[in-house]
Amino acid sequence: MEVKVVSGDITKLPLGAIIVNLFEGVKMPSGATGAVDRALGGIITQLIAEGEIKGKLNEITLIHSLGKIEPSRVVVAGLGKEKGLDLRRVRGVTAEACRYLRKAGVERVGTIAHGAGTGGIDSEKSAQAVAEGAILGLYTFRKHQTKEPEQGEIKEVLIVEQDESKLPQMEQGCARGKVLAEATNLARDMANEPANYMTPTDMAEVARKIAQDYGLECQVIEREEMERLGMGALLGVAQGSRQPSKLIILSYKGDDQSKGILGFVGKGVTFDSGGISIKPSEGMGEMKGDMAGGATVIAAMRALGQLRPKINVTGVIPATENLPSGTALKPGDVLKAMSGKTIEIVSTDAEGRLILADALSYARKLGLSPVIDVATLTGACRVALGNFCSGAFGNDEELIARVIKAGEEAGECMWQMPMYEEYKELNKSDVADIKNVGERWGGAISAAQFLAEFAEETPWVHLDIAGTSESRKDKAFLVKGATGVGVRTLVSLALALAQE
Ligand code: BES
Ligand code: ZN
Ligand code: ZN
Repeated sequence: MEVKVVSGDITKLPLGAIIVNLFEGVKMPSGATGAVDRALGGIITQLIAEGEIKGKLNEITLIHSLGKIEPSRVVVAGLGKEKGLDLRRVRGVTAEACRYLRKAGVERVGTIAHGAGTGGIDSEKSAQAVAEGAILGLYTFRKHQTKEPEQGEIKEVLIVEQDESKLPQMEQGCARGKVLAEATNLARDMANEPANYMTPTDMAEVARKIAQDYGLECQVIEREEMERLGMGALLGVAQGSRQPSKLIILSYKGDDQSKGILGFVGKGVTFDSGGISIKPSEGMGEMKGDMAGGATVIAAMRALGQLRPKINVTGVIPATENLPSGTALKPGDVLKAMSGKTIEIVSTDAEGRLILADALSYARKLGLSPVIDVATLTGACRVALGNFCSGAFGNDEELIARVIKAGEEAGECMWQMPMYEEYKELNKSDVADIKNVGERWGGAISAAQFLAEFAEETPWVHLDIAGTSESRKDKAFLVKGATGVGVRTLVSLALALAQE
């Protein structure tokens, strides 16, 4: 699908449909919606007066233009109350309207940059949000369905602007939005892929290909090297599977003058059965998405390769399966991590923190700082925050605030979780330096405290995306299945740090 900014009068373009908008409670539409209303002989004002159009958030009203204007149909999309309009709503409304028009069989869509008029939103940012909304909202994963889809496809979305002086900025916003949304969709593709199509080897292949295509460096560390490095925690998880584990490293170099390197670490468990501490079979298939954090890091690295900001960034992705077998890790075992710390295994299902422990040590060895990790780490985080906010933890308040702010700008919500010292004792072991499971209560926090032991003095933030990595339904810019959460936050953070 093509998304681009064009100049002109939206009522004069030969399109299948155009999307205009209305704030809740407005009786007389102004701006582009007003112009369309006049061209249609006042039908929008009339439908408002009759109460059919209210402007409620995500409300969609379809009007056939019957030759009064060039586009065949007009969608009036509700933006909700004018107060509090933000980019998240622009993104969501665009996505909902695009999905609606796809169902109606429309192929060419025109839209205005929502909120850029009376809404007071910067037109560059609005264009970015519209591009993101269209690309994210229309995402599908049909790779393994051999039947032709019932619905057609939108081939083109034009963001139409009459004021030519705004075009260059809006084009920039649109281009950035395209890169970010397509990277998010790459992360979605990877996490939606069944585990037999997305093994650690497959993940490494995706990373290699991206490095080739977008000017990144890629290194894949195999078992022998992991052994030399003493990565007992990662190897411990990997030992139950026939699939070789991989430690994937992707580097983007955008600043020769700086020695500093921003680090991203992503959990890449391509299937989490729980191992010997096996999970209940119901819903186990969902655990093909336990590499979502790793996919997020790989996709964010691709976006950086495209946007090329002035900063150095390295992504580290420990990738493995977690399976039970005759060679698998067992509860009660003790592992020695790369940092030298010994870990008592209480549950083999708490495998994410084990592989992240070694990945964080490796990130430290590479001198990455600060480091942000992204992981589908705990069911407890999903219980605590539901599926809207990811949990944010860390050892550096300023960095945590920056990451949360980057998330806000990207439209990905995060909620900071407490890291009081007192939680540390939950991970105390009688037989080793630390154990991999605390108690049930506060499980997301004890998991983060475990990671903190391996982040050591490196400024570090941990994002637990167990609740947000998958959506149960199509909603706003989300589509049922993997969400690709984190990609836009990580890229926004890198872009912001590059500005300094
Ligand atoms: N991958 C899971 C966490 C998870 C749960 C992700 C639900 C997405 C949705 C993780 O490896 C895990 O199994 N965690 C255990 C930890 C427990 C054994 C301490 C959990 O949350 O139950
Ligand atoms: Zn697990
Ligand atoms: Zn897991």
